[in-house]
Amino acid sequence: MKTLVLVFHPDLTASRINRRLTEEMEKQVGVTVHRVYEAYSDEKIDVAAEQRLLEQHDRIILQFPFYWYSTPSLLKKWEDVVLTYGWAFGSKGDKLHGKELLIAVSTGAAEENYSPDGNFKYTVQELLRPLQATSNLIGTRYLTPYILNGVMQHLSDEELEQSAKDYVTYALNPELALLAVR
Ligand SMILES: Cc1cc2nc3c(=O)[nH]c(=O)nc-3n(C[C@H](O)[C@H](O)[C@H](O)COP(=O)(O)O)c2cc1C
Repeated sequence: MKTLVLVFHPDLTASRINRRLTEEMEKQVGVTVHRVYEAYSDEKIDVAAEQRLLEQHDRIILQFPFYWYSTPSLLKKWEDVVLTYGWAFGSKGDKLHGKELLIAVSTGAAEENYSPDGNFKYTVQELLRPLQATSNLIGTRYLTPYILNGVMQHLSDEELEQSAKDYVTYALNPELALLAVR
């Protein structure tokens, strides 16, 4: 199983959480980590290179901080330009069929906000539905997301270290597909 981690953080040098998670992933043998904002500081995405990377891997991880209950803008642009008709979807667009897709997201706000009775009313899983619908369209298997909640409030350095290890263990578990959600 070849794993690709696409990290979408606008400034990893200023990041605490995603930088640590990214560095832990980069230590793993056989995992390709691609810092997408760093690769395209002008935000001009090399579509052919991105598609080639995706084709070469079996599990695709989209890692990002939650921004406005959604993804950072470059990830949205990446979807717009990389997941093309005839390649990712459409009658002949089968290049991603059968691959696995894992979302790994950090939220600033604590978990209790993300519930019907909480401040934000919706769970993170619900707010990730557009990515799940995209997964359905492109024929990938949508794995249960890795969600690291409340990072702006409670996370001590020790807890961050543990979270980085837990993330790697979770995201690289070959059996993760057994937890795939529908
Ligand atoms: C532009 C922006 C929008 C954000 N929107 C949300 C949000 O909708 N919900 C939330 O829980 N946190 C939100 N946050 C907090 C980030 O998710 C949080 O700072 C990030 O996960 C921390 O990771 P980092 O240390 O890698 O930057 C936002 C932060 C920024 C800068």
